[in-house]
Amino acid sequence: MYNKIMGCLASIREKIDFQPEIAVVLGSGLGDFANEIRIADTISYTDIEGFPVSTVKGHAGKFVFGYVEETPVVIMQGRVHYYEGYEMSDVVLPTRLMGMMGAKKILLTNAAGGCNPEFKPGDLMIISDHITTGVPSPLIGKNIEELGTRFPDMSEVYSRRLQEVMKVCADECGIEMRKGVYVQFTGPNYETPAEVRLARSWGADAVGMSTAVEAMAANHMGMEVCGISCITNMAAGISKVQLNHKEVQETADKVADDFKKLVAKVIVNM
Ligand code: HPA
Repeated sequence: MYNKIMGCLASIREKIDFQPEIAVVLGSGLGDFANEIRIADTISYTDIEGFPVSTVKGHAGKFVFGYVEETPVVIMQGRVHYYEGYEMSDVVLPTRLMGMMGAKKILLTNAAGGCNPEFKPGDLMIISDHITTGVPSPLIGKNIEELGTRFPDMSEVYSRRLQEVMKVCADECGIEMRKGVYVQFTGPNYETPAEVRLARSWGADAVGMSTAVEAMAANHMGMEVCGISCITNMAAGISKVQLNHKEVQETADKVADDFKKLVAKVIVNM
């Protein structure tokens, strides 16, 4: 796996020598932010040798390199999901790759279902912690000693410092933020109401299909991590209506302006 990541890095370095300070992953419906930065270059995932790309046409994303004010960032516009059929180690390869490019901090974003009944669609949530009981650890397999230790501590995956930075940035933007625990399930199906009750009883506030394993891989290699969930819908059973991807997209669209403002401010201040 280490050689595979190094191969991807070499493939990128043949094209561009950009040194990002911050890595950003844009979730479902939130990808538009990448078009607003001062873009230096882009690399389509399909042009990176060995990179796990979706076989579904039109589904592959790209790395966008550029600047938010003076801060150099690499942004993933489109991520790799476990439900697409990849090994979990491939799912987190892009995260590790951005770390290897030089990013010391990472901002992860996603669309998620709210399982805290006080939440409402359109809320933005600072991720304070996560639960990955429902998915394999991305660190299973031979440990990559070059990146981190075999048994990494996970007592502060989401940096308390960055949680505070996000809160201050949100206040300055006049955006109300929630804070809570994200639980990752495999997807691609949405959860059953019983699974959502289980998640709630575990202490989860939001359910999703992506971010927690990326946070683990980033934490393993010593990156400082923070995350924002866009609550696009109430999770199954809390929501009175059936869930569908269209609703997820529509809610993400509605909060896109607030989201973009917040993310830009967080990047500059993290
Ligand atoms: N469950 C899981 N993932 C999601 C949801 C949900 O309700 N909404 C958006 N992503």
